[in-house]
Amino acid sequence: MANDLQFKAMTRIIATRGVKEYRETIPAVVRPDDHVLEVGCEWGTTTAVLARYAAHVIGTDISPKCVGRARTMRPGLDFRVLDAFDVRSVLDLGLPITKVYMDLSGLSGYRGLLDLIALIQTYAGIVRPDTVVVKSGALKHFAQCCSPWPGATPLIGKVAQVGGSQPDGELPPLDDAPLPPAVGRIAKKRPGSDRGF
Ligand SMILES: C[S@@+](CC[C@H](N)C(=O)[O-])C[C@H]1O[C@@H](n2cnc3c(N)ncnc32)[C@H](O)[C@@H]1O
Repeated sequence: MANDLQFKAMTRIIATRGVKEYRETIPAVVRPDDHVLEVGCEWGTTTAVLARYAAHVIGTDISPKCVGRARTMRPGLDFRVLDAFDVRSVLDLGLPITKVYMDLSGLSGYRGLLDLIALIQTYAGIVRPDTVVVKSGALKHFAQCCSPWPGATPLIGKVAQVGGSQPDGELPPLDDAPLPPAVGRIAKKRPGSDRGF
C-alpha cells in the first residue's frame, strides 16, 4: 500500500541492465561499513562479490533450492529463504540495512515494471537503505526517459494569473503546454498492446 513516506524517501535508486552492469556497481557503490541485503541471490554469485566490499551481507531468495545450493557452495556466507515482498521478514532480520541489491526474475522486464517500482518504493520507505541497486533493463530505460522538470519562473507568473489554488505550490495543468512526443505515441498505441514498451 502506497503512503507518503514511500514517496518522500530519499533513497538513491540505481537501475542496471544485465548481470555485468549489476555487479559492476559494487566497487563504486558499496562501502566497508555497509550492511547489504541482496534479494534474489540465486546461488549467491553476486552475494559473494558483495561480501568482499561490505561489512556484512545477507543473500535472500524465495527458492529453498537456490538457498540450499548457495549455502553449500559458499558456507562462509549468510543465506536465507525469503520472499522479497515479505518486507516484515526483511525487518525481522534485525540488520541496519544500508544498501539493497535487487535481482528478481520476472520483475526485470516491462510487464513487471509497476510491481518493481512499487517494491523499490516500499523498501525505500520501510527498510530505508541509502541506495537500492536494481537489475532491470526496463527500469533503466524508463529512468533514461525521465527528467525532473526543473521549474520555470515564467510558468509561476502564469499560475498567478490563472489564480490556481494548487496544494504545496504545484502547478495546475496547462492546456496549452505542448505534449512531449512520447505522450503522442502512447495515445496512438493499439489498445491492449504492450509492443514497444
Ligand atoms: C536472475 S536470478 C538472481 C541471480 C543473482 N542475483 C546473481 O547475481 O547471481 C533471480 C532470482 O530471483 C529469485 N526470485 C524471484 N522472485 C522472488 C521473490 N519474490 N523473492 C525473492 N526471490 C525471488 C529467483 O528464485 C531467482 O533465484
